[in-house]
Amino acid sequence: MAPLLSVKNLHTYFYRPDGVVKAVDGISYDLEVGETLGIVGESGSGKSVSVLSMLRLIRKNGRIEEGEAVFDGQDLLTLDKEELRTIRGKEISMIFQDPMTSLNPTFRIGRQMMEPPLWHNLLGSQEARQKALHLLERVGIPEHKSRFFDYPFQFSGGMRQRAMIAMALICEPRLIIADEPTTALDVTVRSQILNLLQEMKEALGMSIIMITHDFSMASNFCDQIIVMYAGKIMEKASTMEFLSNCLHPYSQGLIRSTLDLDTMDVKLNPIPGSPPNPIYPPSGCRFHPRCERRQPICAEEIPALREGGADHWVSCHFAGGGVKK
Ligand SMILES: Nc1ncnc2c1ncn2[C@@H]1O[C@H](COP(=O)(O)OP(=O)(O)O)[C@@H](O)[C@H]1O
Ligand SMILES: [Mg+2]
Repeated sequence: MAPLLSVKNLHTYFYRPDGVVKAVDGISYDLEVGETLGIVGESGSGKSVSVLSMLRLIRKNGRIEEGEAVFDGQDLLTLDKEELRTIRGKEISMIFQDPMTSLNPTFRIGRQMMEPPLWHNLLGSQEARQKALHLLERVGIPEHKSRFFDYPFQFSGGMRQRAMIAMALICEPRLIIADEPTTALDVTVRSQILNLLQEMKEALGMSIIMITHDFSMASNFCDQIIVMYAGKIMEKASTMEFLSNCLHPYSQGLIRSTLDLDTMDVKLNPIPGSPPNPIYPPSGCRFHPRCERRQPICAEEIPALREGGADHWVSCHFAGGGVKK
């Protein structure tokens, strides 16, 4: 069966007065129906831009230079705005880190939830209301019948996140993209939200792309993981493969630097240094200045993404099968 989503060689650049930011610089991956993919990496690595590009939600100074994002047989990057609008919200929904990005502060929660199915002509007004109420209850909003009439500011942060998930689900999309949906929440609410997403995914047979800087969260939640650094994929494998045979020094650093989801999100052993200036990334492997295993070649040649195991890809001169050449 064809994958639900196939991203090929995606490049998105931003044009700033001081130079060009190659925010996403040639990434490719497939997502199967019912699969959960984690995109992991430090802040600024291009995770958000990679998914916003597909929905063409990047800012005006950004341009998709190259690539494809084939969703259910259609390249999202070549659709016109109108065609894309029929897919966005209906077939693909997005959950953002800050619910206020999606929730309109001037509309009551219930009313805004009804909007997407009405706009897409999927449900009549009465059915949309019933479904919104049902979903609010399903995501655990207490007293959902009266809360239906609340404004977003009357909800707590955790409740807003739940409402946003309910809103993302109301059209029963085939793909949910969640961009750091739990970063702003405390640990207990965070695991409740993840459990909720998991349940909904199973109930509706959805695929999920989960963006996070937290490797342990991704490994608890996702079937497949992509590690991004400075706009490039460093490593890509199933979660099982990652946990048993992680190959890239950067991925290994990420794993070392986070604690368990159930404990506190404390950096145990952070990777030394910081991500590069996006306008002047290092030559060769972009991670090389921070890499404890770097050799002269790492500053000279960009390592190709090559096979390091069963459906396991790594971009490092020295990982996966030893030294190249
Ligand atoms: N509108 C913009 N103009 C210039 N640079 C941008 C813009 N949006 C994002 N970027 C840059 O693109 C890179 C990737 O950003 P982003 O995808 O948001 O990172 P992440 O989600 O991994 O934290 C960063 O260097 C960021 O500064
Ligand atoms: Mg982001």
